[in-house]
Amino acid sequence: MPALGQVYHLSAASGRPQTDLVFAHRSKCLHAHSLSGRSRCVSIPTSPLGPCVGPAPFRPSGAASMRRAAALQRRMAAPVVCSATNGEKMTVAITGATGLLGSRLVAKLAAAGHKVRVLTRNPASARSKLSYPGLEFYGPSEWRRGVEGATGVVNLAGEPIATRWTEELKKSIKSSRVGATTAVVDAIKAAPVDKRPAVLVSASAVGFYGISNTATYTEDSPSGNDYLAEVCRAWEAAAQRATSVGVRVAILRFGIVLAPEGGALGKMLPVFQIFAGGPLGSGKQWMSWIHRDDVVDLMIEALVNPAYTGVFNATAPKPVRMSELCSVLGNILGRPSWLPVPDFALMTLLGEGASVVLEGQRVMPARTQAVGYRFKYADLSDALRNLRLSARW
Ligand SMILES: NC(=O)c1ccc[n+]([C@@H]2O[C@H](COP(=O)([O-])OP(=O)(O)OC[C@H]3O[C@@H](n4cnc5c(N)ncnc54)[C@H](OP(=O)(O)O)[C@@H]3O)[C@@H](O)[C@H]2O)c1
Repeated sequence: MPALGQVYHLSAASGRPQTDLVFAHRSKCLHAHSLSGRSRCVSIPTSPLGPCVGPAPFRPSGAASMRRAAALQRRMAAPVVCSATNGEKMTVAITGATGLLGSRLVAKLAAAGHKVRVLTRNPASARSKLSYPGLEFYGPSEWRRGVEGATGVVNLAGEPIATRWTEELKKSIKSSRVGATTAVVDAIKAAPVDKRPAVLVSASAVGFYGISNTATYTEDSPSGNDYLAEVCRAWEAAAQRATSVGVRVAILRFGIVLAPEGGALGKMLPVFQIFAGGPLGSGKQWMSWIHRDDVVDLMIEALVNPAYTGVFNATAPKPVRMSELCSVLGNILGRPSWLPVPDFALMTLLGEGASVVLEGQRVMPARTQAVGYRFKYADLSDALRNLRLSARW
């Protein structure tokens, strides 16, 4: 019997989120087959946006099942959560879709047959960057229309950060993120209830925690007190406003995304090459990195899996110090990695924006792993090798 789709719920046995495959209608319920091999009946209220996973989907028989069902019901005493998890095609509205991460997300969603709506500052320029069949483009005055009826929204827009900071640019780094997030949340709130997206996946960054060479941060750690921490707090607060209308909000605090075509690694590579590949700065600063494919997979997981509510660190589980990152890079590229690149050289090239590679923090994806996300690239050398860096030089 072909599977109709997937249902996410809390496992009766472990209390952890689990995925069931939904097989077929049986009277008033769907029949679900747990990936652990057990079959059971689940009632799934539907919404215009897709199925809803509601409380108490378990119809027990026998004493043991009754006890498990009671425990499950206690754990599931949360409000009904809706999202498109039944294998239906989603409609996803994305801000910042033309950027480094957004363009890869668009490519993956489009390849899987989902509908993508690009919410952009400039539709003409966005059209020239993204060309997949069926893409729809919405300029700033049309974002409300772009959000209406979408299954979910992904919010990635913001002024690039790893550049030379001026006072004006610092203002724009913050206001562009808070402004775009506010605009998209206002658009979500303005949508009629039956056409409101079920979920907002919104970007943030590990800069939320501040910088340290000694501390380890998880999602529960407090925010830091530097400029980037302040930006992240304001950015996240703007996204959380969507919860007031019952929208699930998943905030992904991205680490340094490993992608040779941009971001911090894209900036580091030429510097690394000019200076014979030594550590940038002291080398002691922590680099909480993540491979670009894991970023895209996490965004899609956060869209479809209701367990993603709140804040999640999007960083691989093995952060490294900069000296290790440069040594692994040096090995892969066949370049020496003993001559440190002095801070002043980076500051000259990148200005204050060099802080994204000169300073860092050790961040662990505790909640991300607790909800069951398995990183494709947990190991730095696997991640860098996969990027085929040498071929791009
Ligand atoms: N890449 C990383 O390593 C990393 C790490 C941590 C956090 N993040 C965060 O994740 C998000 C996506 O990252 P990314 O690397 O894909 O960013 P990106 O390549 O710089 O793209 C960001 C997108 O935001 C829009 N944008 C640019 N300047 C803007 C402005 N002044 N006001 C409003 N929108 C503006 C642009 O889209 P349109 O021109 O189509 O409007 C652009 O394509 C960013 O907010 C970034 O801070 C990224």
